Amino acid sequence: MADMQGQVALVTGGVRGIGLAICERLAARGVKVAAGYSRDKDTAQRFLDTFGEQGASIHQGNIGSNDDCERVVNEVLEKHGQIDILVNNAGITIDKTVRRMTPEDWDRVVQVNLSGAFYLSRALLQHMLDRGNGRIINISSVIGSSGNIGQANYAAAKSGMFGLTMSLAQETARKGITVNSVTPGFITTDMTAAVPPEAMEKVIARIPVGRLGEPGEVARVVEFLADPESSYITGQVYAVNGGLYM
Ligand code: NAI
Repeated sequence: MADMQGQVALVTGGVRGIGLAICERLAARGVKVAAGYSRDKDTAQRFLDTFGEQGASIHQGNIGSNDDCERVVNEVLEKHGQIDILVNNAGITIDKTVRRMTPEDWDRVVQVNLSGAFYLSRALLQHMLDRGNGRIINISSVIGSSGNIGQANYAAAKSGMFGLTMSLAQETARKGITVNSVTPGFITTDMTAAVPPEAMEKVIARIPVGRLGEPGEVARVVEFLADPESSYITGQVYAVNGGLYM
């Protein structure tokens, strides 16, 4: 395995769920992880208690705000001096059928899930170009490929990430930067804990592997894409969904 010791990763929503599993795997490779979070201050503090000694840091900000994204990137650069890996992981859902969805529900989900990935990539791009090195990994969703009843805003934002990924990959391919998407299926985190049990039973019945995925099963693909040896992989979508969508 290539050496990742001393590299720095900014992982949005890195203090819990899939983001936490990503931070754990990267930290185990010697990467200093800067974890973003929005409101979960106590969870963020626990994260710092666990990973602080390995050089980790926490950064509060709303990724739906370009100003916050620029501030967070500057904060991380001031603290660590460099950023090698950006994982656009933070995301939210506001589920309603289109008939009931308000323009505000639409805007909020697109703003956080899609615009946030653009704001952060943009804020970090010059730094990565100057260093001729970078890994950008966008955590999309199986729903971005399949769509879903009650998730038009989320599906549109997650599909939008594919377009952002492919375009930015083409713009940066000759500059040592790779940009890829990962599409998890249904993974055991706070996000899926909010789904009513009856609805979840129906989901599990549709998953060929017959169970939900674990955050670590997504994180290992992110680690693979972040690895310096994955330099010939760019503009791609990696599915981790137990066969739910093929
Ligand atoms: P989670 O709800 O456990 O964690 C979300 C994280 O995002 C939290 O740390 C939160 O602080 C952060 N966050 C939320 N809004 C934010 C904002 N405005 N600004 C900054 N940070 C914000 O979610 P989970 O399940 O770990 O999901 C992580 C990513 O994986 C999301 O993008 C989600 O859409 C995606 N995903 C999750 C699946 C699942 O089954 N859990 C399936 C497919 C994709």
